[in-house]
Amino acid sequence: MSDKKITAAITAVGAYVPEYRLTNAELETMVETNDEWIRTRTGIQERRILKGENKGVSAMAIPAVEELLRKRGISAEEIDCMITCTVTPDMVFPATSNIICDKIGAKNAFGFDLSAACSGFLYGVTTGASFIESGRYKKVVVVGADKMSAIVDYTDRTTCILFGDGAGAILLEPNEEGYGVLDSLLRSDGSGAQYLKMSAGGSARPASMETVQAKEHYIYQEGQQVFKFAVKGMADISHELLVKNNLTGDDIAWLVPHQANKRIIDATANRMGLSLDKVMLNIQKYGNTTSATIPLCLYEWESRLKKGDLIVMAAFGGGFTWGATLVKWAY
Ligand code: UT7
Repeated sequence: MSDKKITAAITAVGAYVPEYRLTNAELETMVETNDEWIRTRTGIQERRILKGENKGVSAMAIPAVEELLRKRGISAEEIDCMITCTVTPDMVFPATSNIICDKIGAKNAFGFDLSAACSGFLYGVTTGASFIESGRYKKVVVVGADKMSAIVDYTDRTTCILFGDGAGAILLEPNEEGYGVLDSLLRSDGSGAQYLKMSAGGSARPASMETVQAKEHYIYQEGQQVFKFAVKGMADISHELLVKNNLTGDDIAWLVPHQANKRIIDATANRMGLSLDKVMLNIQKYGNTTSATIPLCLYEWESRLKKGDLIVMAAFGGGFTWGATLVKWAY
């Protein structure tokens, strides 16, 4: 056995977004808002919405994972572990990972869901990378997927303009040449729960007529408070990751930020000393897809990424949760 250090390389990316485009113009017909306000305050122009009866988040995650397998040229049976990061699972249980594994034929995989809201994908990548680094598993799929339209109140103009649906997936495999996940800083602070949450539907407030009537099964967000914490949290942790690894903005090929608000992204890039042409940005097309924003960016920029590029993925979200992950691109 080789005694070289094993790192977890990202070896393929897959993604899926539904066809339906919910534009700012259509939102103008639903709530009192306007295209100019949405674009200048958030950077969003449209988002994708999954339509169809009884279609859960797995309906987007499955094609994303299937594309990933096709691109890597492996069968579903080769997957060891499936981690689905989501706050909108098909059901409370079983885990959406189990549903995905069943539908794609990943008979040899174990799977579980991971709930860390907008930072979910970074938590999932860090967990999956640890499984690979330990030598225990060889092929770990990390899915970031959310059907936010299932928990958005389309009469609440402060939240309905922000969110969209989508899914992305990456494959993690062992590497002995130092490519892959190099470092990750993850944080959480439960005292932030009051500002961004879905109050009912869990064991504390199970679904009832009362919770439905009080709209407690929708996202509740105090935008300004979250904005304040997000700007500081995402920028500080990204900077801390650079300092810890003796890097400056010049060493980084791309910032891959969670897409919640263009102003939060600009502040993070600024704190890292990165020019905006090194920042992946697709919020204008998809809005905030929660766990899916970062893998959707990786997917879209895949052809522009070069072997050896250092990228920083950064996120802030409900919980509060936040983090930054340093990756050396492997292909
Ligand atoms: O990914 C998870 C983490 N989430 C985030 O990172 C989101 C963080 N928060 C934000 O991105 C921003 O706070 C929002 C985009 C949600 C809101 O932007 P803001 O600049 O903080 O606006 P605000 O809440 O301070 O509202 C400013 C004004 C208010 O009117 P008054 O009181 O000044 O008259 C709002 O009522 O804008 C009004 N407003 C709207 N106007 C038109 C709020 N929503 C809308 C709307 N269209 N959709």
